[in-house]
Amino acid sequence: MDAVEILTALGTPQGRANPYPLYADLHGLGEAIPVAPGVVVVVGYDAISGILRDSGFRVSDEDRFDQDFPGWRDNPVFVQAMDWILNLNGPKHARIRSLIARAFTARRVANLAPAIGRMADDLLDAIADSGADGSAVEFMHDFAYLLPVTVICELIGIPESDRAGFRPVARDLARVFEFDDSTQLPAINAAAVELLAYFTGLAASRRHDPRDDLISDLLAVSDTADGRLSDAELLHNLTLLLVAGFETTTNLLGNGLQVILQHPEIGAGVGDGSVSATAFVEEVLRYDSPVQLTSRVGYDTKIADVKVSDGDAVTTVLGAGNRDPRRFADPDVFRPTRSDGGPLSFGGGAHFCIGAALARLEGGIAFPRLLRRFPLLSAAGAPVRRETLLLRGYDELPVTIA
Ligand code: HEM
Repeated sequence: MDAVEILTALGTPQGRANPYPLYADLHGLGEAIPVAPGVVVVVGYDAISGILRDSGFRVSDEDRFDQDFPGWRDNPVFVQAMDWILNLNGPKHARIRSLIARAFTARRVANLAPAIGRMADDLLDAIADSGADGSAVEFMHDFAYLLPVTVICELIGIPESDRAGFRPVARDLARVFEFDDSTQLPAINAAAVELLAYFTGLAASRRHDPRDDLISDLLAVSDTADGRLSDAELLHNLTLLLVAGFETTTNLLGNGLQVILQHPEIGAGVGDGSVSATAFVEEVLRYDSPVQLTSRVGYDTKIADVKVSDGDAVTTVLGAGNRDPRRFADPDVFRPTRSDGGPLSFGGGAHFCIGAALARLEGGIAFPRLLRRFPLLSAAGAPVRRETLLLRGYDELPVTIA
């Protein structure tokens, strides 16, 4: 198959269900592959890593949107998204990212560990009740969706009484990362408007009554006399934190569970501590990354001997880089003991995932607890994959615990 045939196959339901053989075919064509005029797909580990660390490659920002999608300002979601650090370049990105990072500290993340343990145990209690008689439990619905959204709400400072309504709205907004047609935009816009209204109200309340949470810390930064972080920038990036950290981590939990269901001996090792939970999570990230690709706008340069021109669309396939045989021995083998780790799943360079430590912490806490609690955990039917390619995960993973 040539590159275009492989990419076409990747778009089919079978290709989305298992893109890895097709990634292997792409590796055979080189690290970077020109697939159409102005379009380059990059699958090599080193090439992807180099692009993400090269500030000449830019993310699609307001200027690019003006070219590609001139009507974007009519959509509340894009008005917010153009302030998201994910979509900013240069000094504006550096300014807002460093202010967020100052509030989203390693200490704040580490301090969440006991709360994450409690939240995971509460969810496992409910699963123990509903699955005690041997009936099937739906892991995605009953655990993987609930833990990350609850953790982000806790981090940001969203009161417990407000959290129940967040999941569907956050999920609708997260569709902005991968929507196929504009008929989905009204629901995505409605979610963006609803979340912004909510955060506006919460910010007003925290201004009068600050707490030990991320939103209070960010408000303290934005309220300094020189106005380094505007209200809009702050509120818009709160919606980003919610959507960027929710389904990604959900899919880390689901993709990891599927590995365990297929390799019970690895699950037993994570449960009894003979397989390090940290190493297990790292290998899940490499083997079946929740984020399969990201993109950049090119400049006049070369990637792995392939010419790139200013304005080219460059797709970096993180999931393929994670299976690059030039980088990883036996890339298709799940091996938590491997010493050649270092997946690309959180990106790299200026846009490296700000929530990586939190996602790793959640996985590192959740898996051992789950496996200690339910050593008999096993599949109770066929898993149902999500049909998306960018965000990779499951809609349903039915299991039994007894
Ligand atoms: C397993 C879970 C996660 C995965 C696989 C993941 C993946 C990624 C990737 C690949 C990027 C870089 C995108 C690019 O370079 O174009 C990114 C950026 C980002 N992530 Fe994550 N993420 C995860 C969890 C989280 C969590 C828990 C949060 C927050 C609570 C979060 C917040 C962000 C933000 C704000 C950015 C933008 C950073 C910037 O542009 O400077 N992510 N993530």
